[in-house]
Amino acid sequence: MIQSPPLTSGILDSASSTDSMIELRGLVKRFSNAAGEFTVLKGIDLTINRGQFVSIVGKSGSGKSTLLNMITGIDHPTEGQVIVNGTDIYDGVNESTRSKWRGKNLGIVFQFFQLLPMLTLLENVMLPMDYVNMYDFDERPNRAMDLLKLVGLEKFANKLPVLVSTGQQQLAAIARAMACDPPLLIADEPTGNLDTKSADTIIGLIEHFVAQGKTIVMVTHDPSLTSRTHRNIIISDGELINETISRSLPQLRHRHMLEFTKLAETKIYQPRETILSRDEHVDYFFMIRSGEVEVVLQNRNNETIISKLGKDEFFGEMELLRGGKAIANVRAGNKPVELVLLPRADFIRVMNESPITAEAVGKIVQKRLETQKTLDPRENHQSKNVVSIRRKNKSTATRPPKSKA
Ligand SMILES: Nc1ncnc2c1ncn2[C@@H]1O[C@H](COP(=O)(O)OP(=O)(O)O)[C@@H](O)[C@H]1O
Ligand SMILES: [Mg+2]
Repeated sequence: MIQSPPLTSGILDSASSTDSMIELRGLVKRFSNAAGEFTVLKGIDLTINRGQFVSIVGKSGSGKSTLLNMITGIDHPTEGQVIVNGTDIYDGVNESTRSKWRGKNLGIVFQFFQLLPMLTLLENVMLPMDYVNMYDFDERPNRAMDLLKLVGLEKFANKLPVLVSTGQQQLAAIARAMACDPPLLIADEPTGNLDTKSADTIIGLIEHFVAQGKTIVMVTHDPSLTSRTHRNIIISDGELINETISRSLPQLRHRHMLEFTKLAETKIYQPRETILSRDEHVDYFFMIRSGEVEVVLQNRNNETIISKLGKDEFFGEMELLRGGKAIANVRAGNKPVELVLLPRADFIRVMNESPITAEAVGKIVQKRLETQKTLDPRENHQSKNVVSIRRKNKSTATRPPKSKA
């Protein structure tokens, strides 16, 4: 009776290549050692747009540094393609060309600064300009000094790294990374070795570059930093987590997120297209990747939108089901909506294994049900927005009206 809309995954994914700073396609990295070969990156696809500030998190050993080394060209992939700032960096490019390319196109910062110990801070910052022969020879010291001023180290310009604090060394390392004004900054746990105050200064500086339109990719362990980025990517055992899943259900363990990532299906619905019909069985847990859905109650003469849900919100059996069937219609809003679907049984199984997530989901649903109650004519016939509708559901009719606190 009810027809499922066609599966049209990925339509909204096609970012134009001019928007993207980094494109990874089918990236695989294998290492071999005495014990044999093992795969660290297991087929990574990722697009990072220009101007994005992206954090990457994951357990130790999950492949974060290896992933960054593929983007910077420090190491090479076993399979797949890496396109950075419009250049396919492994396709017919030799090591020395890649090294020059790197000097002009990206700044790199590591957890342990890696300043040259026998050069002053000023000389360290000038080094990349000398290496790629950028800016006039006479201009370089001034430019390096401007960068040291920017990071608050002009007074220490002529000091050796060992004579300043670790926080200051990292600031100098960032100044050096930005010496040739690259469009992209790659940072591997830049605050991992610093106290909170120094870490905050570093992030403030990185945000300054974000405001200038630079693209930043930063591996970090610090949850207070991930909340300040545009986008947070989770890597689990060499695979990327679907970002809609990690944003919708942030309390889930990474291994559960990864399991969901593999089970997930993407569907696109056109404006006003029906997603779920009242009285239909609900077979999925739905997360919204983009667009908006409307939860609608309908009778012959009128309809009431009882809630609207947007990006990273979810819906599913918890609030929609009474006795196995949807109690309302759900449809796309006035733009196309892209949904990530999980089979209901898998969702329930993982919720049973993950009480923290189950509780968080429960709270959101509870809150929503309370708002819904005041709008749903079958829950509360005094609702202002609703002209009286014949009650079908006896069980809800006996509930006491919600009192105003
Ligand atoms: N050059 C290498 N040779 C062999 N194994 C490596 C090499 N680099 C990394 N690995 C292994 O790959 C896995 C991921 O490492 P890494 O990317 O450094 O993880 P993370 O940065 O997330 O902690 C680890 O098991 C690590 O031991
Ligand atoms: Mg690492």
